[in-house]
Amino acid sequence: MAVKLEGIKACVFDAYGTLLNVHAPVAQLSSRIGKDADAVSKLWRQKQLEYTWLRSLMKAYVPFWQITGDALDYTLEAFSIEDQALRDDLMELYLHLAAYDDAVACLKVLKELGVATAILSNGSPDMLDAAVKSSGLDAYLDENISVADVGIFKPDPQVYQQAVDRMGVAERSEICFVSANTWDAQASKSFGFQVARINRFGLKDDRIPGTPDMLLESLEELPGVVR
Ligand code: LAC
Repeated sequence: MAVKLEGIKACVFDAYGTLLNVHAPVAQLSSRIGKDADAVSKLWRQKQLEYTWLRSLMKAYVPFWQITGDALDYTLEAFSIEDQALRDDLMELYLHLAAYDDAVACLKVLKELGVATAILSNGSPDMLDAAVKSSGLDAYLDENISVADVGIFKPDPQVYQQAVDRMGVAERSEICFVSANTWDAQASKSFGFQVARINRFGLKDDRIPGTPDMLLESLEELPGVVR
């Protein structure tokens, strides 16, 4: 593993699970869900990701907002939960996800150091806009890049190429990409970014091409690694 990433011109972050806590909505309403709350949150996230991969393969793109709702509907049905108000409240909370503390601290320091910063996410522009505003991250982000412009989800290379084009770098390796999702970290490394995976969930690398350059325990380590 590398100890420092050289020649970085911009830091580009995955949003959901990396900067924003996707398990916050269910945690907040756990008393209305009961003992299955953790399992509900995990299945919701897993189905959300699966639907992005399946729809990309099917060439049947719909905005991430619909994917998120479809995944929630699947999950609630799987747990035999029939509660429209709960569904609406969970979706509303998803628009205003809390940022992880280390994410705020990291972006603040990167901004002070003058490093260009961006989000590159499956999220629809309206979802990303709402989340970065309510979490306060918008003050520290130069760009908010959504897959909506290419109409396909990660890990399609067209998605990662958007960051190269928007951040105006000459080489893919001038981007430090940061994700808590193993498959996103690995696919973006295969694409040619330098990659730091933030170890939020204690996961092993997936058995797909690409090994991240480093594994961080806190995003607060990042500014020291790229400067
Ligand atoms: C994103 C998902 C993969 O923000 O977390 O793109």
